[in-house]
Amino acid sequence: METRVLSTDPTPLLKSSAREAVALLEAGEVVALPTETVYGLAGRIDSPEAIAKIFEAKERPSFDPLIVHLPRREHLAEVANIPEGVEKTVKQLIENFWPGPLTLVLPKTEAVSDVITAGLPTVAVRMSSDPVFKRVVFELGKPLAAPSANRFGRISPTSAAAVQEELNGRIPMILDGGACWSGVESTIIKLEPATEKIRKTQIHILRAGPVTVEDLKKYGKVFVPKQDTEDADDAKPEAPGQTSSHYAPQTPLRLVMDPSDFTPEPNKRYALLSFRGFEQDGYLDLAEYEQVLILSPGSGKVPEAAVRLFFMMRQLDALGVDEIIAEKVPEHGMGLAIMDRLRRASV
Ligand code: TXA
Ligand code: MG
Repeated sequence: METRVLSTDPTPLLKSSAREAVALLEAGEVVALPTETVYGLAGRIDSPEAIAKIFEAKERPSFDPLIVHLPRREHLAEVANIPEGVEKTVKQLIENFWPGPLTLVLPKTEAVSDVITAGLPTVAVRMSSDPVFKRVVFELGKPLAAPSANRFGRISPTSAAAVQEELNGRIPMILDGGACWSGVESTIIKLEPATEKIRKTQIHILRAGPVTVEDLKKYGKVFVPKQDTEDADDAKPEAPGQTSSHYAPQTPLRLVMDPSDFTPEPNKRYALLSFRGFEQDGYLDLAEYEQVLILSPGSGKVPEAAVRLFFMMRQLDALGVDEIIAEKVPEHGMGLAIMDRLRRASV
């Protein structure tokens, strides 16, 4: 199969490209589309053929459920039921964060097949703020299932070229919307009602992402997966399909928490994924790196590091070195999501 890459800039091209994508989706095909987080491989939730094609193109195991993307907030009731006790919080969250990188896990309706949810009684749902994605899903007028547009277990694509690397020849079309501006996948949360002991709605983060703990605190008591932070309230089960070999480059990647933990072996070739590129951080002089890429040069900003993370991991992976060394980044804000992805990418 030939994979066509269609440009979406300037606006007249966005219109014609979106129209072509919609026609394919209507015919039960899959199309790769940009979102603000990473590119997604989209198919209609009411087309079993399209859903099967998503799993096939990605070589995704059937136990890993898909995220459903809505054209507008009003479609939520079509795909999910809001449990008693969390209605107000759901309303506040979708008013404040949709469209945007926040995914809610809610009890599913009949409109969502068991294949999409991997047999779970719940569905993960969000609304993308990307103008290309919005235009396509709005014109189609139906929810789209869209996992990240990479082969299973590999680095999520944050550009059309990265989607090509992953899925060329397996899907009919990629809409090129440029680089994704959040750079890591959406925050996934599950809600539980307040209890006598916990007086606020419980917000359980299943996957850290661009919507941060700090962002969510206003709306309830936030619980984060234990490994992600020292002050986690409780260890909670993660999102299914989040296997520890996720987001992995082909080159072994080692996350180093302190420079003294890394002693290079002679005759081994290394590359460094540096946070700030600061000599004082102690990593730059440890080895004769083949290449050093800096996530956020200078004083170091975690949102900027997040935007560049997958892009740079791909660049270093292409070098063919023996090992990629990754410096730790501060675990606040989006740093939580970065560290989660680096831990999963590391061997
Ligand atoms: O930003 C994103 O979320 C991107 C873009 C394309 O929207 N999508 C994405 O999809 O990251 P994917 O398939 O790579 O990751 C979705 C993850 C699954 O691996 C699973 O862990 C979780 O969402 N998930 C889906 N349905 C769930 C459910 N019912 N309960 C818990 N977790 C669920
Ligand atoms: Mg993925």
